[in-house]
Amino acid sequence: MSSTPSDDTETVHSDDDPAVASVRPEAGMADPSEAERVTPDLDDEETATMRVFRYDPDVPERAEPHYDEFVIPTHEGMTVLDALIYARDTYDSSLTFRHSCQQAVCGSDALFVQGAQRLACRTQLSALGDPIQIDPLPHKPVEKDLVVDMSDFYDQMEAIEPYFDPDETPADDLEEQRQSPENREKIKLSTRCIQCGACQSSCNVAAGDNEYLGPAAINKAYRFVMDEREGAERRKTRLEIVEDEHGVWRCQTQFSCTDVCPKDIPLTEHIQALKREGVKDDLKFWE
Ligand code: SF4
Ligand code: FES
Repeated sequence: MSSTPSDDTETVHSDDDPAVASVRPEAGMADPSEAERVTPDLDDEETATMRVFRYDPDVPERAEPHYDEFVIPTHEGMTVLDALIYARDTYDSSLTFRHSCQQAVCGSDALFVQGAQRLACRTQLSALGDPIQIDPLPHKPVEKDLVVDMSDFYDQMEAIEPYFDPDETPADDLEEQRQSPENREKIKLSTRCIQCGACQSSCNVAAGDNEYLGPAAINKAYRFVMDEREGAERRKTRLEIVEDEHGVWRCQTQFSCTDVCPKDIPLTEHIQALKREGVKDDLKFWE
């Protein structure tokens, strides 16, 4: 059975975070307690209720931010992404969200689920209680429903020149660029990033400064600064980039990025390590 929610829900301000209201067109106006409810004919099935943020500036009747509530039949192992796909395919084909790999690899489905940044594809419904509130990533402009504009995130990634630049050019293209096991171990965790943007979305500093490089880009810089195969000159340039006024020294060591990273990258630790490397580099004239 399928049903489509109407969009005449009255809305009030429910989000008093000024940073959210400032970057989201009227997004802070929606009240989850007034969600429009969509319920299928479910006899004895187990269900979960999702309150999903809705906003579509191109459709007049959906241009007012609001929540729709979907009742979803659940099964063991069901994820938030499974439930969103069910809601879209069963109730409302206009429900918009990003996803691809469904196995925590592509990073496209980071959302604000039950008050925390999480990958929808690896978040079990059974771990969340009921109802489950689903919002777009905070601190980013909403384009439609759960889809946010990630431009700042990608610009910051680009700013740290995220490509390997070895000291020595190999004799031919097939020659391996060998690295010691110890050095590999040192950068191993930093290479796990899937560019989901959860860390940047959780960061209060990034929320107030959209030029702040942010945890993901700084972690990517760490990956290269600590790579023994890049030379001293390249390392110096990289440290200059991360020591920019919108770089590592903005970090207030709040650990929110580390808390939400779905790949368990010790982001705050890596940011602090680059601060230390920068200071050591600045003091080299004493050697
Ligand atoms: S560092 Fe972690 S939270 Fe940040 S973009 Fe990469 S995977 Fe996502
Ligand atoms: S769908 Fe690719 S990380 Fe979740």
